[in-house]
Amino acid sequence: MRIGILGSGLMGGKLGTIFARAGHEVVFSYARSLQKLKRLAREASGTARSGTPREATEQADALLLAVHWSRIDDVLDQAGDLSGRVVITCSLPMNADNSGLIVAHTSSGAEELARKIPQAQVVSAFNTVPSEVLFGVFYAARRKTTRPSLVYCGDDEHAKKLTADLIKDVGFDPVDSGSLRIARYTEPFALLIGEIAYGGNGGPELAYRFERFAEA
Ligand SMILES: NC(=O)c1ccc[n+]([C@@H]2O[C@H](COP(=O)([O-])OP(=O)(O)OC[C@H]3O[C@@H](n4cnc5c(N)ncnc54)[C@H](OP(=O)(O)O)[C@@H]3O)[C@@H](O)[C@H]2O)c1
Repeated sequence: MRIGILGSGLMGGKLGTIFARAGHEVVFSYARSLQKLKRLAREASGTARSGTPREATEQADALLLAVHWSRIDDVLDQAGDLSGRVVITCSLPMNADNSGLIVAHTSSGAEELARKIPQAQVVSAFNTVPSEVLFGVFYAARRKTTRPSLVYCGDDEHAKKLTADLIKDVGFDPVDSGSLRIARYTEPFALLIGEIAYGGNGGPELAYRFERFAEA
């Protein structure tokens, strides 16, 4: 798959690196330093490269949107035409100091994003785990240990299938949570995970797993 990374920070940098190491063609874009984008590309794999958001978007099968909520309009402007593109967002609609959601209950960041880019297919994924756990999950999956869950949601079946494949490539067990509207629940859940990861004593390398147990 050709994957454009829009926002190459903690999430975009790590997920882009993992996608590249899983065999995808990755373009890292949108950081404050071109040197950083070049370094990410060099360290990820042979086919990864750096580019502008527009270059990352052109011919991409999927885009990962991984910027602070305050940067969404700017990065979308720079990306250009998103007609027919699958946009996987891990971005949470956080306020300036990252202390709370500015969209919740009656809408979600993912739904607001979909309203901004109606010509694209938006899927919400990867926002319910901290960046610190991503490499650990990726390398553990190779050792065939039990996979952690990862919730995702969206309205377009093709975009969801593609996202589920990428979730598996990272080493998670994808959990289809339904339509994009369900991001109203997954986004606050992401904050719970953040509380446990960063507020608890166990460290931020935290993932979760849903299991079912028979009644009898
Ligand atoms: N970090 C997590 O564990 C985590 C978990 C779940 C969800 N999320 C969500 O995922 C999204 C990304 O989080 P993150 O932690 O990856 O953020 P981050 O590390 O701050 O990355 C954001 C990226 O945007 C770039 N950027 C910011 N301002 C810019 C500007 N003016 N021009 C060009 N590039 C600019 C940054 O550049 P630089 O590289 O130069 O800083 C960076 O590459 C957020 O919405 C967050 O809420 C994060």
